[in-house]
Amino acid sequence: MVVFLLLLCLPFILYLATPKIRKMLSNGVCTSNVQLPGKVAIVTGANTGIGKETAKDLAQRGKCTCSQLAPADVLPLTVMTTLIVSSQIWNSLKPFENRANSFPFIWLTGARVYLACRDVQKGERVASEIQATTGNNQVLVRKLDLADTKSIRAFAKEFLAEEQHLHILINNAGVMMCPYSKTADGFEMHIGVNHLGHFLLTHLLLEKLKESAPSRIVNVSSLAHHLGRIHFHNLQGEKFYSAGLAYCHSKLANILFTRQLARRLKGESGREQSGRQAPVGSSEKPQDGSCFPGSITCTGATS
Ligand SMILES: NC(=O)c1ccc[n+]([C@@H]2O[C@H](COP(=O)([O-])OP(=O)(O)OC[C@H]3O[C@@H](n4cnc5c(N)ncnc54)[C@H](OP(=O)(O)O)[C@@H]3O)[C@@H](O)[C@H]2O)c1
Repeated sequence: MVVFLLLLCLPFILYLATPKIRKMLSNGVCTSNVQLPGKVAIVTGANTGIGKETAKDLAQRGKCTCSQLAPADVLPLTVMTTLIVSSQIWNSLKPFENRANSFPFIWLTGARVYLACRDVQKGERVASEIQATTGNNQVLVRKLDLADTKSIRAFAKEFLAEEQHLHILINNAGVMMCPYSKTADGFEMHIGVNHLGHFLLTHLLLEKLKESAPSRIVNVSSLAHHLGRIHFHNLQGEKFYSAGLAYCHSKLANILFTRQLARRLKGESGREQSGRQAPVGSSEKPQDGSCFPGSITCTGATS
């Protein structure tokens, strides 16, 4: 009788427990309030999905406490803030409503965010949307096709020529369970885009990241990596191919790359590195008041 009652209640219990189970698996949401004025970030595949939301978040993190300012910055910033406040009041009080209670904070724009997209037109539409919602016009679009090493090299060359710093590289773009196809260089599409493309991009930008320390590389993987196996005898899926497994293998490659990179970066500038996996949406509080813990940190994110 008791078993029967329990079975009867099971759907209801599961219904009640679903939010808790989901929260447990996703490990909560990001509560970090780290601000990023003056930082430079690249997000690959930022024209949609997780990449777009990440880019928006980086762009809007522009609050800066007075204690973070150098004395030389105070006067120009005060003048600038006065001008902005006056123009906001002049135009409309509404856009400034949420910010008015921020004293003693000064609002600046968030990070300069590069949306690295293969479809530039789509990217431009998203950049305008992010600019409009965050008020940060430093959201820029650059062409990057991770399925073509020529495009990756061209992107890196252009970026290195135009930017002095790179503080955040978020390797987010990904293909999932696509029919068998190859990249311009002959790699199977999942391993080529999700892993090898980001591997090359990171390699080309690594020196800039080191020079800009404290900096961070985030490789977005997936829980699907648990099902992945690296088949060195069939890396390009030529002997057999399963779209689902190819995705899992590429996500495992993301994790292995993250760990090895973190190991290799250990000791850079004498600061601690981390190669751990953090679920997407987890918060990470800096221990030393800087924007990022460690000097150059490589983190794998799973969602
Ligand atoms: N969504 C999930 O539930 C989930 C779960 C676990 C892990 N992830 C991981 O999270 C990341 C983002 O996922 P998502 O759900 O946001 O995916 P999504 O909405 O499909 O977005 C993927 C992004 O990658 C871009 N992309 C694909 N191929 C590219 C290429 N060759 N060169 C440059 N960019 C390319 C896409 O550009 P186009 O718009 O031009 O196609 C798009 O911007 C992926 O790495 C994925 O494996 C997602």
